[in-house]
Amino acid sequence: MKIVALFPEYVEGEENQILNTKKAIGLKPFLEEKGHELVILTDGEADLDKHLADMDIVISAPFYPAYMTKERLEKAPNLKLAITAGVGSDHVDLKAASENNVGVVEVTGSNTVSVAEHAVMDLLILLRNYEEGHRQSVEGEWNLSRVGNDAHELQNKTIGIFGFGRIGQLVAERLAPFNVTIQHYDPINQKDNEHSKFVDFETLVSTSDAITIHAPLTPDTDTLFNNDVLSKMKEGSYLVNTARGKIVDTEALVKQLESKHIQGYAGDVWYPQPAPADHPWRNMPRNAMTVHYSGMTLEAQQRIEEGTKDILNRFFNNEPFQDKDVIVDGGQITSASYNAK
Ligand SMILES: NC(=O)c1ccc[n+]([C@@H]2O[C@H](COP(=O)([O-])OP(=O)(O)OC[C@H]3O[C@@H](n4cnc5c(N)ncnc54)[C@H](O)[C@@H]3O)[C@@H](O)[C@H]2O)c1
Repeated sequence: MKIVALFPEYVEGEENQILNTKKAIGLKPFLEEKGHELVILTDGEADLDKHLADMDIVISAPFYPAYMTKERLEKAPNLKLAITAGVGSDHVDLKAASENNVGVVEVTGSNTVSVAEHAVMDLLILLRNYEEGHRQSVEGEWNLSRVGNDAHELQNKTIGIFGFGRIGQLVAERLAPFNVTIQHYDPINQKDNEHSKFVDFETLVSTSDAITIHAPLTPDTDTLFNNDVLSKMKEGSYLVNTARGKIVDTEALVKQLESKHIQGYAGDVWYPQPAPADHPWRNMPRNAMTVHYSGMTLEAQQRIEEGTKDILNRFFNNEPFQDKDVIVDGGQITSASYNAK
């Protein structure tokens, strides 16, 4: 079979990274010894179109996605499977994949702890005004009023979690010892748990001092945090998004930060990815953005390698995938998270 994979570029000397064009999470020997052909794209997405006509499987990580649009899926008659080497398969048009009988599977759970830790870090960075303190230290300044003016404790704040699945629940668990009030909104998971209370979406938006987003990108969540929703957030509140960039309206967010209605924004996800050099979120006020790497720790990369090989083995041996990994199967979107209303 012909397997096409898009991975981040290899950089000489950065040998620990295994999710790149050289190491390719060990897939080259793994596939070649089974008699399959692995094509690793070297020119980003541009190369992808050349292989649509005869590829059987496409693999990419959400950090550096191969956008499998409806048009591309329709031009790939042999394509049977799109594997997400990580978590979050929105870079594949899931409806078009169902219609074209292409299965979509991901390595569910592989990087959930990494992302949860990153989200907690982002909340602390924003509330403590870390970015300003660090900027001054690097740029030779010592302006304590300027940094102290917007520095807060996390304790006694109300933290809203949007999407209370694997990552959302891990975030609640990790935040609880900070002595905060935690509330969540999720159309499926509407129960309180020991750390967090279920509230409706309007309450989450209007009463949280900080919101952290952990829902998938679906037609329902696409730009859900638009100008209307952002303006209903508490004056001076914070927003963290390690889920998907497109859940937040790009321009509306910049406007709300400029007016200081939103005090700070942090996260690692953008639209599109890689984000162009002039993406407005790179330079918007009081942001603590990073490139998309919260779910790409070395520990997570290891689990992504194991999970991707497990998916491939099951596919070659005609065995069922692990239920948790399946997003699209048999011409239908089967994942509860992607069907949530
Ligand atoms: N930044 C990263 O590196 C990184 C890594 C892993 C996952 N992610 C993103 O995080 C998302 C969540 O991951 P997870 O492992 O917790 O997934 P999950 O499937 O365990 O949980 C997602 C939760 O979101 C809920 N949800 C669905 N639609 C919703 C809506 N309209 N409103 C509110 N909640 C909604 C679901 O019901 C589910 O409980 C992924 O889909 C992915 O996009 C990002």
